[in-house]
Amino acid sequence: MDNVEKLTVVGAGYVGLSTAVALALLGREVRVLDTDAGRIEGLKRNQPPFYEPGLAESLVRASAKLSYTTDPAEAYADTELAIVAVGTPPTPAGHADLRYLYQALETLAQHPVSLVVIKSTVPVGTNHDAKKILGPGVALASNPEFLRQGQALSDTLYPDRILVGAEEEWVFGVLERLYRPLIEQSFEELPWLPRPKALREAIARGQRVPLVRTGLESAELAKYAANAFLATRISFINEIANVAEAVGADIEEVVRAIGLDPRIGPHFFKAGLGYGGSCFPKDTRALAYLAKRGGYDFKLLRAVIEVNQAQRYRLVEKAEAVLGRLSGQTITLLGLAFKPGTDDLREAPSLEIAEELLARGARVRATDPKALELARQVLDPRVELFADPLEALEDADAVLLVTEWPEYRALDWAQAKRRLRRPVVLDGRNALDPQAMEALGYVYQGIGRGR
Ligand code: UGA
Repeated sequence: MDNVEKLTVVGAGYVGLSTAVALALLGREVRVLDTDAGRIEGLKRNQPPFYEPGLAESLVRASAKLSYTTDPAEAYADTELAIVAVGTPPTPAGHADLRYLYQALETLAQHPVSLVVIKSTVPVGTNHDAKKILGPGVALASNPEFLRQGQALSDTLYPDRILVGAEEEWVFGVLERLYRPLIEQSFEELPWLPRPKALREAIARGQRVPLVRTGLESAELAKYAANAFLATRISFINEIANVAEAVGADIEEVVRAIGLDPRIGPHFFKAGLGYGGSCFPKDTRALAYLAKRGGYDFKLLRAVIEVNQAQRYRLVEKAEAVLGRLSGQTITLLGLAFKPGTDDLREAPSLEIAEELLARGARVRATDPKALELARQVLDPRVELFADPLEALEDADAVLLVTEWPEYRALDWAQAKRRLRRPVVLDGRNALDPQAMEALGYVYQGIGRGR
């Protein structure tokens, strides 16, 4: 297999679609296979199945190189390479549900593909099992993805590393050639997805994006270790924030002070309501389970998960401390998505916060710039939803800022105050300036910002 000009991507989720679109933008012919007919029909009309910056434009720009199907025979006709990026959602017991992966592999085994690249996040050992399903004539690579939602396409086009686990030398070669434009960043600047300045400068200095070669198991574990470490940073800083509250320190100042140590660094240290989304909660649980199954109790990771769960309720506790009983009070949630830049509500702290407020007898109003449509499907119908944040604030006794959308920072808080019954703002993401809020007459509390 020399230069791969044509390939198939299985799974049109964040990872699959970003990979397909990125490779199509780089000139490869990409077929996208997904079992969801509605999603495929939408994609044929260049409609993105979820909100992701730059995706709508990219689908149009790369449309000549992209095709979509639900039919495996059509998807695998004369392609040698398949990239599998189906979901591995958590089972109720906390392990990864590999049903979709195995279905995809069994279908693949019936078609003449010579290399299967697994991008889905899978427990260590899965790639080995996958080899058995595919049979002796098919090679396999583990190629975990590190993209973030809300930056999925940029992260795919401008990775900080590419990880390939494989057992045969030629497999590394094929993927090195496939990803060469990313490694060398040799493609033209895309005006709607500009190359980050730091990367542009690094490439100008002759650096390349590293392709890390490992065995299959190391690649699988590296993916979980990366997410577990990032989750650990978040739970760690949230605990320091809680200590800061207890002793009268300010977490933002503490982070500034410790982040300058290059061994620590300032990134991924935002205290708040804990991590959500489709990855950290699932992957931390899956890794803890994987360790346990191997006979090892991963105590630190179990604590990370526990801290994260408790952190979600910090604002509810604060609201009760400020307002007294929550029963009969009106609370407005600013933001529902698990983080800004996405409409995704999976494991979003907002869901549990809304539920808890309702359970304590509060009336809940909520708004979000992107996630309202999904919220209508998953939130308790008693939560009143508003597209206009000012309308959502009407007659509220307290405002809980749950997702740090830039819109909420830019809100006219002087005008907002006139809508509220009580000027109480509890900022779960430290998105607002405490002094400015207090100057406007608000009772303001963040996370870990002094007593
Ligand atoms: C995460 C990883 O960052 C990606 O590298 C990885 O590829 C991806 O999971 C995955 O496994 O697919 P993602 O879940 O999209 O990406 O979002 P992040 O931006 O990492 O944020 C995750 C959560 O952590 C969010 O709820 C965010 O609010 C929270 N967070 C993040 C903090 O509370 N503090 C921080 O400093 C950073």
